[in-house]
Amino acid sequence: MLSSAVDGIRLSLHVLAATIWVGGQITLAGLVPSIRKVSPEVTRVAANAFARLSWPAFVVLVLTGFWNLGAVNMSTQSTAWKVVLGIKIGVVVVSGISAYLHTKAKSAAGLAIWGSISGVSAVAALVMGVFLSN
Ligand code: HEM
Repeated sequence: MLSSAVDGIRLSLHVLAATIWVGGQITLAGLVPSIRKVSPEVTRVAANAFARLSWPAFVVLVLTGFWNLGAVNMSTQSTAWKVVLGIKIGVVVVSGISAYLHTKAKSAAGLAIWGSISGVSAVAALVMGVFLSN
């Protein structure tokens, strides 16, 4: 069945924001080793430019995530669906906090650890979102 226009807008915004938050982190992680060889300063400029896109995308993800919840009839969802939703929300919180700690990290180890946690938890949130989608 074709989605209604409102459902199409809601899910398109959610998925578009996910492409920026999740895909952007993976793309930046792939580019950084090459950029760093040219100039560590340019790496910082690129990371700051990405942050100006990724944090608004994260806000859109959370807002449209709650919009998704409003559009779902909870009483018809299985216990498994609700458990996956609960885990997903926890993983989203981890992704946001670890991305913030990544931006504040000073050491190479801190950058690597918080960046990896943010990336892995963002991918986990995306996969769980796909399983939640009806
Ligand atoms: C890092 C943050 C997030 C990512 C990457 C993400 C990703 C996704 C993706 C890819 C889908 C599948 C869309 C589709 O196949 O049509 C989805 C669906 C969904 N997401 Fe998220 N999401 C995030 C945050 C949230 C939050 C914070 C909530 C709840 C507060 C949420 C609730 C939902 C729900 C309920 C669905 C199913 C929507 C439906 O079937 O109508 N998401 N998410």
